[in-house]
Amino acid sequence: MKLYLKIWRQKDADSKGQMVDYELNGVEGDMSFLEMLDVLNEKLINEDKEPVEFDHDCREGICGACSLMINGEPHGPDRLVTTCQLHMRKFKDGDTIVIEPFRATAFPVIKDLIVDRSSFDRIQQAGGYISVNTSGNTVDANAIPIEKENADDSFYAAACIGCGACVAACKNASAMLFTSAKVSQFALLPQGRVEATERVLNMVRQMDLEGFGNCTNTGACEVECPKGISLENIARMNREYLQASMKG
Ligand code: SF4
Ligand code: FES
Repeated sequence: MKLYLKIWRQKDADSKGQMVDYELNGVEGDMSFLEMLDVLNEKLINEDKEPVEFDHDCREGICGACSLMINGEPHGPDRLVTTCQLHMRKFKDGDTIVIEPFRATAFPVIKDLIVDRSSFDRIQQAGGYISVNTSGNTVDANAIPIEKENADDSFYAAACIGCGACVAACKNASAMLFTSAKVSQFALLPQGRVEATERVLNMVRQMDLEGFGNCTNTGACEVECPKGISLENIARMNREYLQASMKG
């Protein structure tokens, strides 16, 4: 395949970026999207040009690092896959592909396609933990009965990999889907109820402090989420938040 790539290039956080055109031959359908970028970078290095910086780690849909906007969609045209799991067979010979970083005030561009998503880390730090008594009489987690439905919903919420596609997909750059997944995975379990009130208040406060926008129920986040995180988590977080506010 021959592809025409339009890629966002930006020297550093303070520079003005721009789209740059590249032509790339020899792209195979079995390549992943990141392997296609590897081929481009090999070519650029051989031509003594600066390679395109992009974020990646696991390359198997686990770490959430490979956050790219591909033809206007976070993680590209496929559903329930990350950029590293997207295959080039989704494109055809002669296609033009526009590749940009995730855009949000709370995700500033560091270089080219890499953004700083430490705002997500700070939301996690604000409440993504439980206090466990480790003084010798800790109850084995498996000794506490949990309804299957709650265990399953908690597990599904915990599948969030913190990629940021929900933010990038949202016209308000809202982080409600991410934050609600992080609140829900604890709120549904007895072990997470101990700090439930402060957790939801602190995580939502941090989310607002980071500059994420409000949720206006467009549902774009759920559509683009590679892990199928449900909007039900947002409804649950809103209920948790209301209850916690009344207690406060
Ligand atoms: S909710 Fe989905 S899109 Fe948002 S950070 Fe988690 S995995 Fe990524
Ligand atoms: S590189 Fe880890 S999810 Fe894509």
